[in-house]
Amino acid sequence: MNLGFIGNGSMSQAMQQIALQRDHNIEATIGRNDPWELGKSDIVCEVSTPQSCLTNIKKLANLKKDHIVVTTGWYDHLPEVKKIVAEQGIRFLYSSNYSIGVNLYFRIVESAAKLINHVDDYDIWGTEIHHKNKVDSPSGTAKTLEEILIKNIDRKTSVVEETLQRKKAENEIHFTATRGGILNFEHTIGLDSEADCIRLSHAARNRNGYALGAIKAAEWLTKQAPGFYTMDDFLADILH
Ligand SMILES: NC(=O)c1ccc[n+]([C@@H]2O[C@H](COP(=O)([O-])OP(=O)(O)OC[C@H]3O[C@@H](n4cnc5c(N)ncnc54)[C@H](OP(=O)(O)O)[C@@H]3O)[C@@H](O)[C@H]2O)c1
Repeated sequence: MNLGFIGNGSMSQAMQQIALQRDHNIEATIGRNDPWELGKSDIVCEVSTPQSCLTNIKKLANLKKDHIVVTTGWYDHLPEVKKIVAEQGIRFLYSSNYSIGVNLYFRIVESAAKLINHVDDYDIWGTEIHHKNKVDSPSGTAKTLEEILIKNIDRKTSVVEETLQRKKAENEIHFTATRGGILNFEHTIGLDSEADCIRLSHAARNRNGYALGAIKAAEWLTKQAPGFYTMDDFLADILH
């Protein structure tokens, strides 16, 4: 595969390293002020900033370039992007989280939530810890986990993320975030009864899982018909 990259920051560089390990060719790496020379790129990876991402998506679509978007924080524009992708007849894939392990974890938590929905004895809690440099809190992954739990457990109707200075209500899930240290990327869901506690945890060892998942998604995209895809489509394909 010939790959182009828009953005050359830490995630882009991690992806380029994985791409080379998987025998792909880096055709272009375009930074903020570089001319757009994409060469023979089969797929372009957009890995820049939320501020520049939409402009880049539009530019790539106008050039009829198939692309994956790794940048987060532009999702208010999803309907507009869907329309542009259809109009230009290109292949497009985006995900807020390219880690295959995290996407498997989402499905495992969803299955557990559906089971526990039938067993009232269990209360549910969540917690996450991330490294000291992470700028947002709670993490986007924690937000997705909260949505999965609320959607699938009828007796839980709200999430509290702040410190609780009162007794937790039965309909609430307390989901807390801790920041500190260097290599922390961990989420845990507890299903907790008088008798026992089932803990479901995902802990990333480094950032490479995100880069590897993104390159695998790009490889997958080249084999699909033109259209608008997400990580769910990719995962559904490899799991079945
Ligand atoms: N979906 C996922 O699984 C996943 C995983 C990791 C990261 N991300 C997302 O990926 C994005 C990049 O993350 P990062 O850690 O690589 O950030 P980063 O290290 O800050 O890199 C961003 C890069 O984009 C460049 N840039 C800014 N405007 C540009 C433009 N108009 N054209 C081309 N390049 C431009 C920046 O250049 P300058 O230095 O010149 O400003 C910088 O090199 C973020 O949105 C992050 O949330 C997503």
